[in-house]
Amino acid sequence: MRNIVFHKETKTFHLYNDKISYIMCVLKNGHMGHLYFGKRIHDKADFSYLVEECQRPMTSYIYEGDRNFSLEHIRQEYPVYGTTDYRHPAIEILQKNGSRISEFVYEGYEITAGKVKLQGLPATYTESDEEAMTLRVYLKDALTGVLLELLYTVFSEYNAIARSVCVKNTGTETVHLLNVMSLSLDLPDQDYVWMQLSGAWARERYIKERTLEQGITAIDSRRGNSSHEHNPFMVLRRKHTNEYRGEAIGFSLIYSGNFRIQAEVDTHNVTRITAGINPKGFDWKLEAGEMFQTPEAVMVYSESGLNGMSQTFHKLYGRRLARGYWRDRCRPILINNWEATYFDFTEERLVEIASKAKKCGVELFVLDDGWFGARRNDRAGLGDWIANMELLPNGISGLANRIEELGMKFGLWIEPEMVNKDSDLYRKHPDWILQTPGRRVSHGRYQYVLDFSRQEIVDYIYGMIAKLLSESNISYIKWDMNRSITECYSIAYPADQQGEIFHRYILGVYNLYERLTSAFPEVLFESCASGGGRFDPGMLYYAPQGWVSDDSDAVERLKIQYGTSMCYPLSSMGSHVSVIPNHQVFRNTPLHTRANVAYFGTFGYELDLNKLSDAEIEEVKAQIRFMKEYRELLQFGTFYRLKSPFNGNETVWMVVSEDKSKALVGYYRVLNGVNLPYSCVKLQGLDPDKLYENELANTKHYGDELMNLGLITTDVSAGEVPQGAEPCTDFESRIYLLKEKQSTN
Ligand code: DGJ
Repeated sequence: MRNIVFHKETKTFHLYNDKISYIMCVLKNGHMGHLYFGKRIHDKADFSYLVEECQRPMTSYIYEGDRNFSLEHIRQEYPVYGTTDYRHPAIEILQKNGSRISEFVYEGYEITAGKVKLQGLPATYTESDEEAMTLRVYLKDALTGVLLELLYTVFSEYNAIARSVCVKNTGTETVHLLNVMSLSLDLPDQDYVWMQLSGAWARERYIKERTLEQGITAIDSRRGNSSHEHNPFMVLRRKHTNEYRGEAIGFSLIYSGNFRIQAEVDTHNVTRITAGINPKGFDWKLEAGEMFQTPEAVMVYSESGLNGMSQTFHKLYGRRLARGYWRDRCRPILINNWEATYFDFTEERLVEIASKAKKCGVELFVLDDGWFGARRNDRAGLGDWIANMELLPNGISGLANRIEELGMKFGLWIEPEMVNKDSDLYRKHPDWILQTPGRRVSHGRYQYVLDFSRQEIVDYIYGMIAKLLSESNISYIKWDMNRSITECYSIAYPADQQGEIFHRYILGVYNLYERLTSAFPEVLFESCASGGGRFDPGMLYYAPQGWVSDDSDAVERLKIQYGTSMCYPLSSMGSHVSVIPNHQVFRNTPLHTRANVAYFGTFGYELDLNKLSDAEIEEVKAQIRFMKEYRELLQFGTFYRLKSPFNGNETVWMVVSEDKSKALVGYYRVLNGVNLPYSCVKLQGLDPDKLYENELANTKHYGDELMNLGLITTDVSAGEVPQGAEPCTDFESRIYLLKEKQSTN
């Protein structure tokens, strides 16, 4: 159930479904006022008591003779700066006369069933009109003729509102958009803990929290990619909200470029959230008759804690943001040669790795970096997407056929947005990279960024990659991106459009993705940017899975995957078993722990299985059998975080099948202890009345027992090991399989 009601007499809009309400109204100056976002409440015509009109000292007022109506103290829907509101605005437009003041006044609205597609941008979607309703509120600035369309979609099944804004210049003069946020939300108080997913290369999306205070709290990216440093995602939770209980609002921006998410707490404890393209350096020239569409932002409201919020994101993003052939399909178990060989391989060596993997049950072999042009190290070859015939005498199609003959699928790595100076492409088109005239151009990993704001360059790269995909039997593409943008400037655009290049660049990336995924709909795309540098909802629209991090160590991955799960579904998380000592932290973890972590994602191997002992190979075979049997549950079940790696030595998480007949609990302990106390963990999401069999412990328990008393996780810990028992070591882990057992009494 979803609905949008307009109360004519009070000009109040109420968007709601069974769980949430979103209410706003037209204020007396014609601007839009925000009234409520939260748990569903009854509809009624008049909520105007929520508009705070009162006299306050040191305030500026709109109307002569009226000392009550100031935008400074009114919660608004899409605020502007300069007409009594001194807080950060949602929009700022530079006009011909140098003014940045605008006045967006209500003009009308339109309500439609379903959801509209955003041109050239990734966004959530519906498959039938019953799934959502969309409201467009029209506001106009009379002086410039700029028209705003505020778009709101309320879904029937999800506690989520999707928002974006379309700006149309219906005036006669050119204007410049300096800031145009996807959403602005004024919340009535400041009693929130702000949570962000931040870190660095190889430790992405760690959970970081702080309490909001008067002033500004923000995260952003100015790197051209959403970044390893900050994910375009933020949560406001109440102080006592935990994983299962309490209020939380998640804000997610479906965008892969420069972004900003900000909370501004004002003097009277109102919290204004804004999210959108980073205004820093942004300047979009909008000529008469043109329009600009912002990326979409999604707000999820949960009263059942962080897990409740995450599960909504998982379902919405897994089913109605990710698209295509692979969206609902179990993902193939793959082996990737990167950590096995790096650049040092021959066709024979690759086939050797693939053959062994095939014998273990692996389904897809992925050839990573180094197969093309003069690419023998990271200094050459990017841009020349033609196989190096010395390494691969039969070309990509020859190798792909050999892999297919083994009974496996073949996948390939590309980095289409980049070029090395030592490449035929650069030698031919040195002017195709982003560079500022007269300035030195910086490199990242000896590579330069192609100017994807130019359609002819995107077309050229499309031609090369499409040729490759049509000529060879390629089932999977790993799309990498290994540096951020510097000296951002395009020689194809005039001076007054240089502020558009970052955004035009990412539109070019989306354009290439859209064309390749439409032309090759059954190819599985995995996004990657030095691991997790562009692991964002924008990418998820094109690539249903992404390489979570270049850090493949099982212990490190606990934090990375736990943090990532705040917003992203398990089906989107590329996670592999890699070699020991691990190549990032040089840690030795048991093979079973490496798999136990990687199961909670797409699963694969990142090593040469030929180097494993016979006993280890048997273990790998069993892991693959297990994953094949349970991957549907693991990738598409309901995920619960139970114990956080950020809070201690143990991590526990679980997935439950839709019918609650099966669950898998992943238990991980980083360091071993001596003579440890009894331990147990209370499970979630089971059917209280179902009897479950715990195969590992050979016991049976009702769901209510497991959720209220807990699952016993005590084990043979160091100190004294009974005869015949396997001692536990550091980096211990296990998976508990719980299966419904038909009650016999
Ligand atoms: C960075 C990726 O994250 C790695 O997995 C690998 O593909 C390398 N790039 C190859 O250069």
